[in-house]
Amino acid sequence: MAFGRNQRVFTVNFFIILLCPVVASLPKPGFPVVIVPGDGGSQIFAKLNKTSAPEVYCVKKTDTFFNMWLNLEELAPFVIDCFVDNMKLNYNNQTRKTSNQPGVETAFPGFGDTQTIEWLDPTHIFPTTYFSPIVEAMLTWGYQRNVSVRGAPFDFRKSPNEMSEFYKDLQALVEETYEINNNTRVVMMGHSMGNPVLLYFFNYIPQAWKDKYIQAFISLASPWAGAVKTLRLFASGDNLGVPIVKPITVRPEQRAMTSTAFLMPTNKYWNNSEVLVVQPHRNYTVNDYKQFFEDIGFMTGFEMWKDTSPLIYDLDPPNVELHCLHGNGIETPGTLLYTEKTWPDSQPAMIPDQGDGTVNIRSLMACTRWQNNQKGRVVHKVFPNAEHMAILANEDVIKYIQSVVLS
Ligand SMILES: *[C@@H]1O[C@H](CO)[C@@H](O)[C@H](O)[C@H]1NC(C)=O
Ligand SMILES: *[C@@H]1O[C@H](CO)[C@@H](O)[C@H](O)[C@H]1NC(C)=O
Ligand SMILES: *[C@@H]1O[C@H](CO)[C@@H](O)[C@H](O)[C@H]1NC(C)=O
Ligand SMILES: *[C@@H]1O[C@H](CO)[C@@H](O)[C@H](O)[C@H]1NC(C)=O
Ligand SMILES: *[C@@H]1O[C@H](CO)[C@@H](O)[C@H](O)[C@H]1NC(C)=O
Ligand SMILES: *[C@@H]1O[C@H](CO)[C@@H](O)[C@H](O)[C@H]1NC(C)=O
Repeated sequence: MAFGRNQRVFTVNFFIILLCPVVASLPKPGFPVVIVPGDGGSQIFAKLNKTSAPEVYCVKKTDTFFNMWLNLEELAPFVIDCFVDNMKLNYNNQTRKTSNQPGVETAFPGFGDTQTIEWLDPTHIFPTTYFSPIVEAMLTWGYQRNVSVRGAPFDFRKSPNEMSEFYKDLQALVEETYEINNNTRVVMMGHSMGNPVLLYFFNYIPQAWKDKYIQAFISLASPWAGAVKTLRLFASGDNLGVPIVKPITVRPEQRAMTSTAFLMPTNKYWNNSEVLVVQPHRNYTVNDYKQFFEDIGFMTGFEMWKDTSPLIYDLDPPNVELHCLHGNGIETPGTLLYTEKTWPDSQPAMIPDQGDGTVNIRSLMACTRWQNNQKGRVVHKVFPNAEHMAILANEDVIKYIQSVVLS
């Protein structure tokens, strides 16, 4: 798909060069772009010096950092238990903070550049192209990696209340990008959870800073008000789209991510007569999270939710020009249906909702609340059938991005 598009762009440029030999030089890029990836959208490297491991065959010590995230070798049966133990965070209900397992040091390589968010697997073997279709297209518009298109990978296991270092780095990255591009305002582009993360940033950073440095904000597939899918992650786990992975095996790691709690559906967009989870003995609405966590035996999740749910609950406007882009028309978890047999450790059936396959439509559309209600216009565009991940390779979306960044 990406190959087909690049071919076409190449053909168009080729004609322009033939027809206008004199003016044919590299096109000038438009506004510089800084990309903030979503949940699972950054490479994670780890270095180990552990004293214990869940299985005898798990490596406990490494001399150097190795790629831990979406690495086929790490996700193979058996070895996956080691992966889960290395990825897991520990939540401290006194400090309200998470930390790595003892003896695990993590790094999120490539801050500032885009390589580590274009491909999630550095070997490029695993089919995990992420932002590469967009960045590759931008190169044909005259953009240059790490100069006019830049990336801000982060520890997606955490939520904004634990990201103050990242926000400092992000602010510096935007300022540097503005300067190295001849004092040109920057377009921020987020995918999925990257957008709530950016909203939190825009909510606290002074307006004068935004007026000086920010041209616009392009949000792709944002869960502004959460997504029902997170409740399935907490209850039963998710196989990360890898068929050989058993959801229950990775559940401990997914439960330990405060970002999962940050993305739970909020009662601003779901009311207390809508059942989100059904099990034989009880139903749960958006107002029953305490009971939900009690019944799945993970009260730590409720503590995490208490910390993270207020962060962008009010959905205060970003107060920068916003282009809110998302898909629709794909079955998305609406109500999770558990039986005696599946509750809570096996995958539920579901009553589908509208959405992009991951995020419910009401949450994707919540940006419309800011239309005529903030500093800067809000353009809301729906791309039919643009699935949550596939939206990053959608030709119409890429054309729209081009119209914003080259305007
Ligand atoms: C590894 O951890 C042990 C304590 O468990 C410590 O004594 C040792 O210095 C550590 N090694 C390195 C290379 O950090
Ligand atoms: C806080 O953590 C401690 C130690 O893990 C645990 O015993 C206690 O039940 C936790 N409290 C809550 C409210 O989760
Ligand atoms: C990216 O650009 C920054 C700032 O100009 C520079 O310090 C850094 O070395 C560059 N990184 C790469 C991988 O080229
Ligand atoms: C930078 O901006 C100045 C003033 O707008 C302009 O004259 C100059 O050509 C620009 N330089 C580049 C490299 O774009
Ligand atoms: C709750 O939401 C449902 C579905 O959107 C709607 O049909 C119902 O009227 C709402 N109930 C209340 C009490 O607001
Ligand atoms: C749960 O909700 C379903 C559908 O909304 C309903 O049919 C069922 O009776 C409810 N079960 C309980 C235990 O409340």
